[in-house]
Amino acid sequence: MIGTDVSQAAALLRQGQLVAIPTETVYGLAANALDVQAVSRIFEAKKRPSFDPLIVHIGALAQLETYVTQLPPLALRLAEHFWPGPLTLLLDRRPLIPDLVTAGLPQVGIRLPAHPLTQQLLATLDFPLAAPSANPFGYISPTTAQHVAQQLGEQVPYILDGGPCQVGLESTIVGFPEGRPLVYRLGGIALEQLEAVIGEPVERRAHSTSNPQAPGMLKSHYAPRIPFHVGEIDALLEKFPHQNVGVLSLQTTYPSVNAAWQVQLSPTGHLPEAAGRLFAAMRHLDSLPLDVIVAEWMPETGLGRAMNDRLRRAAVPDNLQTGEI
Ligand code: TXA
Ligand code: MG
Repeated sequence: MIGTDVSQAAALLRQGQLVAIPTETVYGLAANALDVQAVSRIFEAKKRPSFDPLIVHIGALAQLETYVTQLPPLALRLAEHFWPGPLTLLLDRRPLIPDLVTAGLPQVGIRLPAHPLTQQLLATLDFPLAAPSANPFGYISPTTAQHVAQQLGEQVPYILDGGPCQVGLESTIVGFPEGRPLVYRLGGIALEQLEAVIGEPVERRAHSTSNPQAPGMLKSHYAPRIPFHVGEIDALLEKFPHQNVGVLSLQTTYPSVNAAWQVQLSPTGHLPEAAGRLFAAMRHLDSLPLDVIVAEWMPETGLGRAMNDRLRRAAVPDNLQTGEI
């Protein structure tokens, strides 16, 4: 059921049930983070492997000390600057955070989301919410309540409808090995924004499929069903001459392609607007009678970097047109 009733959502969560929640990034599939049975329902509903840890959502910065043993000074600075907002911090957890939530890791991912309905919900609960993106494991993250209903409607008793997500990309995840910030996943906070607050360059964790500390880092994640190729669109169009091709571009239109099969993410090339529309556009193209979807790389700056990360991981392996980013 889809609705806007925060008290109904709260009642279900208190009973250990799942509720899909709106955030400014993407919709989350939430359960009481301190209740192992409730959390295990998330893994079942998403068909998510239990080695993939969940982010814990809190309602106020002051709650941090309840769940983590220490707060590096730079973590506090980032939290004060970007919360509520699309930033997740990896911090040493206290034992009341169940192993299942962190997949046994010593750190827990914590964030304070910016959506008013979810803030209201968190304020009425006396526990935090574990919530991954509310999509089946490996598929594109949902940015509307309808996206959640289409794929997980059967498994989720209540979907709290907060409208379309404003940011549209998942949170940026930052850890602090040896006290220095390290980006584990780029998302709604751009690298440049982090660096402006930290005052120096911030490293990104190298992508690794063999030892995924953040399985959001796994390749072939965020992937549509229809084969998805990223590169130079004209070249890709030549590569698939007699097929139904969908096109995903930042702002260019392609006269040789059926107008109904192409999406321009932002007519003015505005990256925040493009980011906000990316996942809905990928879902839309994935619902059309296409043989293949071709997309172009975004400018490697600001939110473009996180968008390129998602495009890369949505792509058919070995078919990337450029290996350099
Ligand atoms: O914006 C978001 O982050 C959304 C909304 C709902 O908050 N959530 C989200 O969750 O994207 P999920 O589970 O789809 O992606 C979270 C990523 C996963 O790849 C997970 O492996 C990583 O964060 N992660 C969570 N806790 C971690 C931890 N303790 N250590 C390392 N990685 C962690
Ligand atoms: Mg996810």
